[in-house]
Amino acid sequence: MRIDVVTIFPEFFSVLDVSLLGRARSGGVLDIRVHDLRDFTHDRHRTVDDTPAGGGAGMVMKPEPWGEALDAILTLESTVVFPTPAGALFTQGTARDLSERQHLVFCCGRYEGIDQRVIEHTRTRAEVLELSLGDYVLNGGEVAAMAMIEAAGRLVPGVVGNPESLVEESHEDGLLEYPSYTKPAVWRGLETPPVLLSGNHAAIAAWRREQQLERTRRVRPELLPHEETGDA
Ligand code: ADE
Repeated sequence: MRIDVVTIFPEFFSVLDVSLLGRARSGGVLDIRVHDLRDFTHDRHRTVDDTPAGGGAGMVMKPEPWGEALDAILTLESTVVFPTPAGALFTQGTARDLSERQHLVFCCGRYEGIDQRVIEHTRTRAEVLELSLGDYVLNGGEVAAMAMIEAAGRLVPGVVGNPESLVEESHEDGLLEYPSYTKPAVWRGLETPPVLLSGNHAAIAAWRREQQLERTRRVRPELLPHEETGDA
């Protein structure tokens, strides 16, 4: 999979060289390229922002450098993601959808956002997704893009060594994950639940399912189908 990122802070993305994504990148499974938006400016100050039309606080990212950057990067297979708190919620389902695309382009806005015409114009030549990480505001799209790249990238075949580890995790079946234990069987007086040491696979599966339901009911009841909430 090819991923391009456009940002005024390319150094943010050095963490993509670490851990599983780093290995996928050096092994050629993920081809990730990070571009400095300022390389697409032409003035001495490499200006990327200007005052908002209509007035108000803050600065807005100018359309011209974005237009030139996307002219250079887009292909016929591109899906363009604009991380923004004004976007649709990014979920595990979105991550899976993105992981199946050939070419992702992340456009990281700063300040009060990017001139809306950049998004409108990009829609005329590629699929565009405005996506939010959650109902809170970050200083820019970089951290959100990184989270989305990690969530989607780890679902690309070959990135996570054992694909079975992707199956039984939080949100894959709509529920939170069950708690995990390892050796020793007793640690600081706390026992591993005996069922997990019983060797009874059906009993273990039933216990894990019950733990998933209990945890989801307690922490994230809105994720449960109505009949599983225990409400009347
Ligand atoms: N940029 C700033 N805040 C954001 C958020 N919550 N999600 C995605 N991009 C953002």
